[in-house]
Amino acid sequence: MNKLDLNGRVAIVTGGARGIGYATAARMLASGATVALWDIDAARLDEAAGALAASGTVSTHVVELTDEACVTATTQATAQAHGKIDILVNNAGITGGNGRLWELDTATWRRVVDVNLVGPFLACKAVVPHLLRNGWGRIVNVASIAGKEGNANASHYSASKAGLIGLTKSLGKELATSNILVNAITPAAAKTEIFSQMKQEHIDFMLSKIPMNRFLQVEEVAALIGWLSSEDCAFTTGAVFDISGGRAVY
Ligand SMILES: NC(=O)c1ccc[n+]([C@@H]2O[C@H](COP(=O)([O-])OP(=O)(O)OC[C@H]3O[C@@H](n4cnc5c(N)ncnc54)[C@H](O)[C@@H]3O)[C@@H](O)[C@H]2O)c1
Repeated sequence: MNKLDLNGRVAIVTGGARGIGYATAARMLASGATVALWDIDAARLDEAAGALAASGTVSTHVVELTDEACVTATTQATAQAHGKIDILVNNAGITGGNGRLWELDTATWRRVVDVNLVGPFLACKAVVPHLLRNGWGRIVNVASIAGKEGNANASHYSASKAGLIGLTKSLGKELATSNILVNAITPAAAKTEIFSQMKQEHIDFMLSKIPMNRFLQVEEVAALIGWLSSEDCAFTTGAVFDISGGRAVY
C-alpha cells in the first residue's frame, strides 16, 4: 500500500458501514485521517466502528441521506465532534433491482434517484459551507460505469449515476477558485453486498464487459478515493475518474 498523506484531515464517508465505504474509511484511517462513518444501518455502523477503532479516530452517525433535516443535523454533529470537516465522500447507494424500464416500479425508480442523487446533493449542500469556512476541501462522488454507458435493465441506477456525474461537473466549477475540488469516480462491478440487490444474469453481464475479466477489489477503489481526497490531487476538479478494468475508454 502506498502512503497517502491525510494527516489532520476529517473525512465523512457515507455508506461507510460496509463495502466500498468501509474500505475507504480503513484506507483513510491508515493515511492519518479522522473518519465519520455515515450510514442508515446502525448495527453495521457499530460493527464497522469496532473493527476500525484500533486504526484511529472514528465516529458513527446514523443518517437517512434523503432526509434534509437529518443530513443537516448530522453535518453539525460531525463538525462538533471533530472540530471541522475537510473531506466528503458521497458513497452510499442502492441499485433498485433489475428490470426493463417499463417494468420497473415507479416508487423504486424514484427511491434510487433519491438515494443516489438527491442524497449527495443534500450532503454537499450541508457540508460545502464548512469546507468554504475551512478554505480547503475535497469531495469525491461515487458514481458508476453505468452512469457513463447506461446499463440495460438498470435505467434508474444508470440515470441516477449520470446525474451524479453532472452534479460533480457543476459543483466543481462553482468551487474551482475555493481550494475545494469535486471529482467523481466510475467503478465497474465490485463484489460487495450490493450484489444481493441484482439478478445473477446482470452480475454476469457486468463481468463480461470488463476486459480485465475480474471484479474490482474494494481496496482498489479506496486507493483512488484516498488520492482524490488528498493534497496530491491539486489541479483536477469536476472530473470523472475511470476505474472499470478497461471497460470505459474515455
Ligand atoms: N459494488 C459495485 O459493483 C459498485 C460498482 C459501481 C459503483 N458502486 C457504487 O459504490 C457505492 C458503494 O457500493 P457498495 O458496493 O459498497 O454497496 P453496499 O450495499 O455494500 O453499501 C452501501 C451502503 O450504503 C448505505 N445506505 C444505503 N442507502 C442509504 C441511505 N438512504 N442513507 C444512508 N446510508 C445508506 C447502506 O446501508 C450500505 O452500508 C454505491 O454508491 C454504489 O452504487 C458500486
